[in-house]
Amino acid sequence: MGEVIEFKSKRSFRNIALIGFMGTGKSTVGKKLARLLNWEFLDTDLEIERLCEMSVTEIFQKFGEKRFRSEETLLVKRLSDYNQFVIATGGGLMVDPENWRNLEKNALIICLYAPLDKLSERVGESSQRPLFKGKREDIEALWQGRQAVYAKADVTVDTTFKDADEVVDAILAELNIRKLI
Ligand code: S3P
Repeated sequence: MGEVIEFKSKRSFRNIALIGFMGTGKSTVGKKLARLLNWEFLDTDLEIERLCEMSVTEIFQKFGEKRFRSEETLLVKRLSDYNQFVIATGGGLMVDPENWRNLEKNALIICLYAPLDKLSERVGESSQRPLFKGKREDIEALWQGRQAVYAKADVTVDTTFKDADEVVDAILAELNIRKLI
């Protein structure tokens, strides 16, 4: 466990997008990875919060999930012009096939994986994430339903027993071995 578990693609890319369920460490890993590559970093949730001038939780509360998803879709369209960015995506962003198509045009898609128990431990009770609240079976259904989407990533890294630095090392090692960077 804990190794890069799958590598599917050798496509050329200008950016790296991190995908995966809430709590997999996309933002922490993304920032560190960007720093080491000397690339820019963008977190889609934070960018939407900046553009909408309210938190993700407030967007969900005031306007509903649908509005949040349309903000994600608009943002991803803009990202196709970006170059040398590490992009940490919100956990549900890649569920929309249109977002997937737009992001994969220029980005290598790397999925960070962890089982739900591990994610619950990491995210905890005080989560600011509207979709990581409520009944365990609902969260489990969401996690389960997302796995088929995440499985389409070019690279999957199992983060279960890794801290953020180790995940970054695993990604860099894999990209180096495959002469992708
Ligand atoms: C969501 C994940 C969150 C955020 C929003 C919805 C999801 O991002 O985009 O709360 O649908 O999984 P993180 O994955 O960064 O927590």
